[in-house]
Amino acid sequence: MAQNHDATEAFRGRSVVSTADFSKDEILALLDAARAFDRYHDGPVWTPQPPELQGRVLGTLFFEASTRTRLSFESAMLRLGGSVLGFADARISSLSKGESLVDTIKVVEGYCDAIVLRHPREGAARLAAETAHIPVINGGDGSNQHPTQTFLDLYTIREAAGRLDGLKVGFMGDLRYGRTVHSLTEALMHFDVDLKFIGPENLSLPQELREHLAAHGRSGVEVEHLQDAGDLDVLYMTRIQAERFPDPMDYERVRHAYRVDRAALEPFGEKLKILHPLPRVNEVAHDVDDLPGALYFRQSRNGVIVRMALLHLILGGALPGRGDA
Ligand code: NCD
Repeated sequence: MAQNHDATEAFRGRSVVSTADFSKDEILALLDAARAFDRYHDGPVWTPQPPELQGRVLGTLFFEASTRTRLSFESAMLRLGGSVLGFADARISSLSKGESLVDTIKVVEGYCDAIVLRHPREGAARLAAETAHIPVINGGDGSNQHPTQTFLDLYTIREAAGRLDGLKVGFMGDLRYGRTVHSLTEALMHFDVDLKFIGPENLSLPQELREHLAAHGRSGVEVEHLQDAGDLDVLYMTRIQAERFPDPMDYERVRHAYRVDRAALEPFGEKLKILHPLPRVNEVAHDVDDLPGALYFRQSRNGVIVRMALLHLILGGALPGRGDA
C-alpha cells in the first residue's frame, strides 16, 4: 500500500499523454483512488463532496467531436468544486483564424490550472504538454491514444471481474484507427492477460503497436471473426472510425462487417463482460443491452468517477509549483 501511496504522488502536476507513460503501480493507485470517489455516486444520485478544487479552473479544448469525454471531465471538475471553461467546437475558436495549437495552448494556460485537449492530429497532446507549464490531459489525439478512457475501462473491468490479471480480453472492430484500443492494449501489457484481436485485415493493429507487443512477448492472437477467438472474459467492442479513413470507399467496405448481437455472444456464457467506449453505431445490437455483462453504460458512468480521481491527484492539495510537472 505504501507503494501505491507513492504512486499517487506521481500524479501531482503531471500531464497525461499516453498510457505507456504510466507504471502498473501508478495505474493501480489511480484505480484505488477512483474507488474512493465511487461512494459519492449512488445510482443516479450524487452526494455532495468537499469542494476540494474550489478556485481551480479546468480548460476543455475540444477540436473534435465529443460527448462523454468532455461532459464527464466537466462533471468531475464541477463535482469537485472547480470550474470549467473551454470550447466544444473548434470552429468558434481562433483556430478558424489560423492560430496554431502551440499559440492556443500558450494563451489558454494563462486562464486555467489544467487543460483537457482533444485533437485530430496524432502527437498533438504531447506537443501541448511540452508547450504548457500546466498539466495537459490527452482527451484523444487522432487515432493514437485516449489514456483517460483506458483508466475508466480498467476500472470497469476490475469492478466487474474483480481482477485484471488472468483475463482473456478480446478487442473487436477498428483496431487500426481506434485510439481506445491502442491505449488499453498498452496498459494491459502490465497485466497477465491473454490478448485477442478480432477484425478485418485492413483494420488490424498499427505496426508500431504490434512491434511493441512482440518486444514484450505479448503478441496476442489475431483473427478475423469472433467465432475463431476462443474463450473470452472481456469483449471490447469499437466503432469503425469512419472519420479516419483516407478513402471513404474503404469505410463503406467494412462498415457493416462487424456487429454482435445476443445470439453471437451466447457461446461465451454469462461471464462475458462487454465493453464499448461509445458511441456505438451498429456494431452492438440493442438486444445485447439487457445482458448482465453489457457494461458500456456503466463504463461511461465510471468516466466521471475516474476523472474525479485523476483531477484530484493532479490538481488536489497544494498547488503544484510551476516547472514541477
Ligand atoms: C471514443 C473516442 O473518442 O475515441 N469515444 C470516447 O471517448 N468515449 C471512441 C469512438 O469515438 O469511437
